[in-house]
Amino acid sequence: MKLMRAFSAMFFCFALLGVAMVNAQKVSKDSFGKTAEGEGVDIYTLTNRTGMEARITNYGGIVVSLTAPDRDNKYADVVLGFNDLDSYLKGHPYFGALIGRYGNRIAKGRFKLNGTEYKLAVNNGENHLHGGIKGFDKVVWIAQEYKSRLGPALSLTYKSKDGEEGYPGNLTVRVIYTLTNRNELRIDYSASSDKDTVTNLTHHSYFNLAGEGNGDILNHRLALKATRFTPTDAGSIPTGELRNVNGTPFSFLKSTVIGERINGSDEQLKFGSGYDHNWIVNGPAGVLRQAASVYEPTTGRVMDVWTTEPGIQFYTGNFLDGTLTGKGGKPYARRTGFCLETQHYPDSPNHPTFPTTTLKKGVTYKSTTIYRFTARK
Ligand code: BGC
Repeated sequence: MKLMRAFSAMFFCFALLGVAMVNAQKVSKDSFGKTAEGEGVDIYTLTNRTGMEARITNYGGIVVSLTAPDRDNKYADVVLGFNDLDSYLKGHPYFGALIGRYGNRIAKGRFKLNGTEYKLAVNNGENHLHGGIKGFDKVVWIAQEYKSRLGPALSLTYKSKDGEEGYPGNLTVRVIYTLTNRNELRIDYSASSDKDTVTNLTHHSYFNLAGEGNGDILNHRLALKATRFTPTDAGSIPTGELRNVNGTPFSFLKSTVIGERINGSDEQLKFGSGYDHNWIVNGPAGVLRQAASVYEPTTGRVMDVWTTEPGIQFYTGNFLDGTLTGKGGKPYARRTGFCLETQHYPDSPNHPTFPTTTLKKGVTYKSTTIYRFTARK
């Protein structure tokens, strides 16, 4: 009997602790303004148990800010972005946004599916980029905030109409952002269509682990678990080759300073104006495995990227030119942020040898990516 009482007391204590831990996470909602069409937009603040905070708007599913601790447990905002909706509405290079229906480029905005040629909106020279003129980064998503077992979460839903930006099929997309109590920004994507279509969803945060507005990212060290990458032509369309990174400036198999080789004479670096390429993540796609690790030496911040996707686009903010001013009032100059966009390879619908991006009618698309933050002494 005594033992039973002791057990139930212990159980009660653990339950209380559990409740206290769950209670420490917070989610709140505020208005973030209105779109040009007068649609109301909100901003959600997710705070996890350790005090990390993510602010996410349902306009474009944009992560507006994200704090992470350094080696002295000091938090800083590590993503580029703006303080107000109007700055996002004026146009920006996909800061923090959800990207769809297709992340990265589709050559000439054309592809064939089941014998029919589809013509997509063209918005990057002669190519289609990041879902077209009004991609998922520029639409208002239906949002629902909640507390989950893993941490505070935001569910975003968007119904993309048949023919939108030229794509076939009514596509229902759901993205769940969770700020886990293990200091991860976890993104779970799912989608389904009423007609065969193509889908490649990603997230486009520009990170600076020294803090947004705090100089360039060239002294960050990057490791990529990728033995091959997909070289491109001058218009950033993959040639179809899967090239081994050995002996090239594209080898990040050992952690390497980003700026070390970026201005070299390699033709691929010239084409991208720096790094702007898709690496093939080692290991089986569909399985959550580590793709990348980034370390910032002055603060000790580390970001590890895990994904189920077959590829990852590493982009060094080569086209930022100081004309946009960020949250802290500093201009975002060239290479002051980097992106690690987990994805299927660019232009897959035109490369039958690449892992397929066809989403069959009635089949559920699923993908998960985790950005995990720690600090090293
Ligand atoms: C692309 C770049 C592009 C950038 C933002 C990246 O995903 O690969 O070429 O400039 O997004 O526009």
